[in-house]
Amino acid sequence: MEKGRGQWASNIGFILAAAGSAVGLGNIWKFPRVAFENGGSAFLLVYIVIVILIGATVMITEFAVGRNAHKNGVGAVRDINKKFSFIGGLGILTGFIILSYYSHVGGWVVKYCVAYLTGAGAVYEDPTNFFLVDVLGMGTSFPIQGAIIYPLIFIGLTAFIVIRGVSDGIEKLNKIMMPSLFVILFILFIRGITIEGGAEGLGYLLKPDFSKVNGSMILAALGQAFFSLSLGMGIMCTYGSYLNKEENLVRNTFTICGLDTLVAFLAGFAMIPIAFATNIEVGQGAGFAFISLAGAFQSMPLGTVFGFLFYVLLFFAALTSSISLLEGTVAFITEEWHWDRKKACIVLPVIMFLIGILYTSSQACLDIKGIWLDANGISYPIFADFMEYLTDKLIMPLCALLYCILVGWIWGVDKASDEISSQGLYAFKLKGVYGILVKFVAPAAIILIMLSGLGFIG
Ligand code: PFF
Repeated sequence: MEKGRGQWASNIGFILAAAGSAVGLGNIWKFPRVAFENGGSAFLLVYIVIVILIGATVMITEFAVGRNAHKNGVGAVRDINKKFSFIGGLGILTGFIILSYYSHVGGWVVKYCVAYLTGAGAVYEDPTNFFLVDVLGMGTSFPIQGAIIYPLIFIGLTAFIVIRGVSDGIEKLNKIMMPSLFVILFILFIRGITIEGGAEGLGYLLKPDFSKVNGSMILAALGQAFFSLSLGMGIMCTYGSYLNKEENLVRNTFTICGLDTLVAFLAGFAMIPIAFATNIEVGQGAGFAFISLAGAFQSMPLGTVFGFLFYVLLFFAALTSSISLLEGTVAFITEEWHWDRKKACIVLPVIMFLIGILYTSSQACLDIKGIWLDANGISYPIFADFMEYLTDKLIMPLCALLYCILVGWIWGVDKASDEISSQGLYAFKLKGVYGILVKFVAPAAIILIMLSGLGFIG
């Protein structure tokens, strides 16, 4: 192991940090909406199966690659096979692009926290206007708050934590924020399941309707699981690289996947009934959390308090994820390019923040487009969508696919299993199943996600 490399001070610190990475905007902002749109309870069941079979497989694979080498995403892959180090590079690139926009959405969340702390008057007056004009700058010269001030605060906080290093910064923050996140989520969950008029929403999530299971729903669950579990970006590989050899990777992986799924479900059970009770539409992309729900809190008793809690919850979730994204790139730059940590933690966030300005301002204020090619031909999506397409539909699944091929077919299931079992310290009873999953099932599923994302199927 390289001298001076960070290490988790405890196994629970690692679990909370990896769960902190996984639990993010994807769980709270996106999952309830995707679950609702894809059949509610039936989606929940399919999602669980996918997390167990595919999500846990790819996650443990990333952990094993990282811990085997005790190196960053590129170095760890290079240790297995030099020709594959580009996979590590692809992962770092994805994390870099994602954080460029994730930090801006995180900034909007901070703006909502401030708005609710001060009574939410401006939000309640006109939630749509608040989001589109005040945050995204529609019709104004430039969204200074949504594209500059608040994203700067958010990415500044991210950098502030990551600069302190793995155990003093990332681990300590997660040890405080993750338990707090669970407490807040639990309060909102209780509110959701007891709210008057929410029973129909609850029923929708509880009564399985298997006629809703179809190809496009399964693919939606697969895509959601990948993003939610922070897979395909070398982030879990980097976090795994700070873990010592004696810890039990199988148990840790199931714990982390379980926590991530639990949060997503609790968020669904909190928000869908609230949406039914207040008669708002679930769906509408970003608008669900930032417009519909933002306005809905007004009509609930103590709504502003619950609203504030909701945005604080989103903030905690987003921050613990964004620090993992930054750490992935910082680990690479400090170990491969030999920058010092401080410099990396200042220069990288500045570049990401600048790119993110295009993300926010392209949504309603400036006409900035990207270019996209898929089964439907060439299109020119707004820059914000272009960034998400690039990562979600292309690089992220590609990277996860290559990881599985590398480990399943090149490194080999035996060597991967030696790492997973801590060289035999723990019995890895699922080795046979893992081999089949990593060599065949996960790659096939990922190829399907890619084909569906690019419009060839589904
Ligand atoms: N898993 C995070 C979420 O659900 O919001 C997003 C994310 C974080 C994706 C870190 C990828 C990553 F490496």
